[in-house]
Amino acid sequence: MNIEKKEESYKKLLKQVNSLLEDVNDEIAMMSSIVCLTIQEFDYYFWAGFYRIWKKEQLIIGPYQGTLGCLFINFGKGVCGVCAHQEKTIIVPDVHKFDGHIACDSNSNSEIVVPVFNKNKDLIAVFDVDSTEFSSFDETDK
Ligand code: SME
Repeated sequence: MNIEKKEESYKKLLKQVNSLLEDVNDEIAMMSSIVCLTIQEFDYYFWAGFYRIWKKEQLIIGPYQGTLGCLFINFGKGVCGVCAHQEKTIIVPDVHKFDGHIACDSNSNSEIVVPVFNKNKDLIAVFDVDSTEFSSFDETDK
């Protein structure tokens, strides 16, 4: 996808998310709506979802859309666990070359995982998006 089209899509998404969730104060409702809008906007996104902090150093799946994902991920494991551990966005152009990648679905070729913070700047989740294409994600997606 070219950069102009991508930027346009994200601007549209941001507007939708902001107006829809303006008065919503429930994390699950917010996350579900963000997943739904995101996955519908890009046809090469086949999996999008949150892994929330569940226990010390462990994530639990959901809300998400796509094929079955693994239920729990420990900090430091897979792309999601590394993102949670480092609290930094991880962009993976080719998941087959990422050491320790957790392959939930063979359709995934590239991936981005973004840390999610609450208003107090505490990490509460990571947002994971998988693409059927290679090198789908860049600074614009971040
Ligand atoms: N690939 C991820 C696991 C989650 S799924 O893609 C749904 C990872 O390596 O953390």
